[in-house]
Amino acid sequence: MAGAAQHAHWSSRWAFIMAAVGSAVGLGNIWKFPYEAGQGGGGAFVMVYLLFVFFIGTPMLVAELSLGRRGQLSPIGSMKKIAQEEKRSPLWGLIGWSGVVGAFIVISFYSVVGGWTLAYMVKSAMGAFSNIDAQTAQDTFVSYISNPVMTLVSHFAFMGITIFIVAKGVQGGLEKAVTYLMPALFAILLVLVVYSGFTGDFAKTVDFLFNPDFDELLYKANSPEAIAAGGAAKVFSLDMVLQALGQSFFSLSLALGSIMTYGSYLTRDVNVGRSALTIAAADSSVALMAGLAIFPIVFAYGLDVAEGGGLVFMSLPIAFGQMPFGIVVGTLFFGLLAVAAITSSISLLEPPVSYVEEKTGWNRRKVAITMGVAAGVLGVLSAYSQGDNMLSSISIFGLSIMDAKDFLTNNIIMPLGGLFTALFVGWFVSRKAMMEELAMEDKTFRIWYFLARFVSPTAIGIIFIKIIYDTVV
Ligand code: PHE
Repeated sequence: MAGAAQHAHWSSRWAFIMAAVGSAVGLGNIWKFPYEAGQGGGGAFVMVYLLFVFFIGTPMLVAELSLGRRGQLSPIGSMKKIAQEEKRSPLWGLIGWSGVVGAFIVISFYSVVGGWTLAYMVKSAMGAFSNIDAQTAQDTFVSYISNPVMTLVSHFAFMGITIFIVAKGVQGGLEKAVTYLMPALFAILLVLVVYSGFTGDFAKTVDFLFNPDFDELLYKANSPEAIAAGGAAKVFSLDMVLQALGQSFFSLSLALGSIMTYGSYLTRDVNVGRSALTIAAADSSVALMAGLAIFPIVFAYGLDVAEGGGLVFMSLPIAFGQMPFGIVVGTLFFGLLAVAAITSSISLLEPPVSYVEEKTGWNRRKVAITMGVAAGVLGVLSAYSQGDNMLSSISIFGLSIMDAKDFLTNNIIMPLGGLFTALFVGWFVSRKAMMEELAMEDKTFRIWYFLARFVSPTAIGIIFIKIIYDTVV
């Protein structure tokens, strides 16, 4: 038990599950998943996403939790330590580094959108959505994200709350927030699904989300590439498949060190396999419910499914503006969404904080403030890249600053992190060590090992090679 003594731990298995679900369920499910499904053409995206969640993401959850628990350090420290124990190159520590740096980038823009949810909670409470139509809902959103003062205030308010909780440590703030508020979010989402289902276009939603049209996912229509390819209207591309892969990692909080760090707070008696399945199931049901709540309104009001990051903020307020007790329901919804986002942002700040704490020996409070403020400042660039705000004309490979950070993490850092983690546990850590760490039934272990060793690296590898080939050739 040497070394484990000074490291904090969860108070119970239930507390750990709640914290991990709290990390997984967040803006990724309610803000990102619906708009990406909309842009990816619906059902086929959803199907591929779910396949990734269960065949790649869940085994990776198991891998990261067990690496963290074995290492008992920050992601960087744990990776280096395990590599050393297994007599492997210290370069494997880079997996930890890419996670810590990735988490720092993600939290910088995650907090911006977290700020939007806080602002929308206040707007809802003030009755701003009463009887609004689709156009007003859209104008409200655009004018808000274009406002340099409002967006700054809400971004730093969100970051401030995150810093406050992280500074208090694992058991202090975090566990309490998740145990009650996550189930409340689930309940209100259920109410919204029922309401949207009755008042919006439910039939079209079900068709859109669950009737896969693979052409929509696999072919780019009228893209510059398509036109260059001799006027053919469509070109085969795995871009959206990569997007779905990245989203499955993002939604499960993988490859950014968060789950590995939470694993390091884990005690030996917790069954990692069963926990991973619970987390994945809870996470995907929230994402699907968000889709079922949002798209009936999108279709009923003729909004654009491929609208992008504003989709949730432009659609749900219309429903809140019309339903009985809409002010209460709307305020509760955005409030709980903010809570869900905070329980995720905490887990994003945690990897950089745990590393700096380990390196410098500063107290937790000081580290949390330093890292949080630094990420907050970086986030201003994202906040101001939206709508008509101050930096909205800057474009990086055709993307806004916010979308560029999202692309870098979602489509590059996370899938590559996942690929190397899978290779590490599948080929570079001894089978015996993994078996001992996981303490699974023999059959379950074999399934997991096969998925981690062969399926994940092959799937991620193929997607990457195809996309690199397309870009270069
Ligand atoms: N999973 C969180 C969400 O869906 C975001 C997140 C990603 C948190 C990676 C931690 C690490 O909102």
